[in-house]
Amino acid sequence: MIRVNEHFLKLKAGYLFPEIGRRVSAFAQASPRADIIKLGIGDVTEPLPPAVVAAMHKAVDDMTTVAGFHGYGPEQGYGFLREAIVANDFKSRGADVAADEIFISDGAKCDTGNLQEIFGLDNVVAVTDPVYPVYVDTNVMAGRTGGNDGTGRYAKIVYMPCTADNEFVPELPEEPVDMIYLCYPNNPTGAVAAKEQLTKWVRYAIENKAVILYDAAYEAFIRDDSIPHSIYEIDGARKVAIEFRSFSKTAGFTGVRCAFTVVPKEVVAYTKSGGPQPLHPIWNRRHCTKFNGVSYITQRGAEAVYSPEGKRQNQAIIDLYMSNADVICQSLKRLGYQVYGGKHAPYVWLKTPEGIDSWSFFDVLLKRANVVCTPGAGFGAAGEGYVRLSAFNHPCRVQEAMERIAKL
Ligand code: MLT
Repeated sequence: MIRVNEHFLKLKAGYLFPEIGRRVSAFAQASPRADIIKLGIGDVTEPLPPAVVAAMHKAVDDMTTVAGFHGYGPEQGYGFLREAIVANDFKSRGADVAADEIFISDGAKCDTGNLQEIFGLDNVVAVTDPVYPVYVDTNVMAGRTGGNDGTGRYAKIVYMPCTADNEFVPELPEEPVDMIYLCYPNNPTGAVAAKEQLTKWVRYAIENKAVILYDAAYEAFIRDDSIPHSIYEIDGARKVAIEFRSFSKTAGFTGVRCAFTVVPKEVVAYTKSGGPQPLHPIWNRRHCTKFNGVSYITQRGAEAVYSPEGKRQNQAIIDLYMSNADVICQSLKRLGYQVYGGKHAPYVWLKTPEGIDSWSFFDVLLKRANVVCTPGAGFGAAGEGYVRLSAFNHPCRVQEAMERIAKL
């Protein structure tokens, strides 16, 4: 008799964003004249930068010739892209990362979800609360979390509350943990972590023989140079941290698909007998077995993100989204709402009015202002009482959304 993987039955009914999509579609069907403004899922709206488009066109032309044709590429990514990443994202900030420690992939969602496979099932997982749901759900699927307690929390996960009081950066856990998921700039709260805060975490991981899984997908939105873009700006991080990056939000690649993960050669996990085992060859083995690389055309497009004109064009797009974030923050503050984030991240974390839970406020915004947000409860118990507004939309639509909310 074929048996199902019962860990999947422990998951909440649907993944957060499809559930929001379902509710928005139902509303749109019932109110076909409603002009809905989407500030829910963090999906970019501006077209690809011209430098990226030109590089992709050229790569298509390469593929039409015998000399320029590319079949299967290296699973880990082409050297030209890995070298450009090292020079521009790491060396430029004094972070020590080598090109062969970079694994190009088709998305940080897949990488943050897949990487847990290389760790034993008896590791204790620590996540912030609220949290990007992928970290939790993929550990549930693997069988590392125990059962769901009915409030959406899992018995064996250590939740680290992120609240306005701790500026949405968690305290160190009281009990020992092994796999620590951190995301800065943070999805969903928009908070950032300072160098001293990350240094505490790196020290903790070294002392406790833990690993930090650091999601830096939103680093390009940081506007204050003193805030780390990479965990490898912290001394010792190469021993204990794996970092995830993405071209999705930084270069408009949500529909193109390209990201990368950094696995330094020093980072280890331990065998039952206590022997250190480097994770780089293990992730390499997993990656080569289950993944055939990102297309040549896409990687040439990603490489162009680092060209002088690519950088300039991209920065203009990021500035546009961050100016949206500013409009959202200022408008909501003027209306008396409490807002967080939005300064170094494309997300604004909005406290719902007294007595209104996050799904009810989602309904109010959808039905009365025809504006889509993401309910904080979808990111965990500590997200209750908040909603997330994304700055990814055209400036005129963001302005319009704010005017509608002002009329509520
Ligand atoms: C989000 O809105 O949180 C993100 O777009 C989801 C993702 O990147 O998978």
